[in-house]
Amino acid sequence: MINQIKEILVTREELKNNAKELGKRISSDYEGKELVLIGVLKGGVVFFADLIREITIPIDVDFISVSSYGNSTKSSGVVRIIKDIDIDITNKHVLIVEDLVDTGLTLHYLKSMFEARGPKDVKICTALDKPSRRKVDLEIDYKGITIPDKFVVGYGLDYAEKYRNLPDVCVLDSSVYTDKEDMD
Ligand code: PRP
Ligand code: MN
Ligand code: MG
Repeated sequence: MINQIKEILVTREELKNNAKELGKRISSDYEGKELVLIGVLKGGVVFFADLIREITIPIDVDFISVSSYGNSTKSSGVVRIIKDIDIDITNKHVLIVEDLVDTGLTLHYLKSMFEARGPKDVKICTALDKPSRRKVDLEIDYKGITIPDKFVVGYGLDYAEKYRNLPDVCVLDSSVYTDKEDMD
């Protein structure tokens, strides 16, 4: 597995500090408020686990599992909900937690979906941001590390479901994949 990695783009130490910083800001911003953190499966799970352990105020946690419809329809911004959250978010502060914002379509869709359920507000936290790929305007309230337009894996991010367990964010050697269109 390791010799398919071309370079380490973000180290585990940088990722740890990133989660620490964001957790600190969130703890202070939401002090005294009812906060629900929603992790987006599957990619968001590693950052989610790091982030919540850096938050020092009481929180509720939940998960949503989504899937895009594939490349051609992904640009429509419609995502399929595989598993919804269980918690009632009415009158609660909601923070959606993602590993990466790429085109922005997943979070754009999820934000409006949660906003329609009567929360106090819905904000966004991401470990990584790839702004060069954005297709929709998206406000990111808690933005971690900005990365270039390279196909990355690790820290939750996959290529064909593999590599999510790598502790660093890595660039894959192009010999691993042939068709770039399949990489979502
Ligand atoms: C990846 C990533 C984000 C999303 C970002 O998830 O984890 O959720 O894409 O892309 P976008 O900004 O263009 O919408 P993916 O759909 O690959 O599912 P996964 O988390 O299960 O790997
Ligand atoms: Mn994802
Ligand atoms: Mg994926």
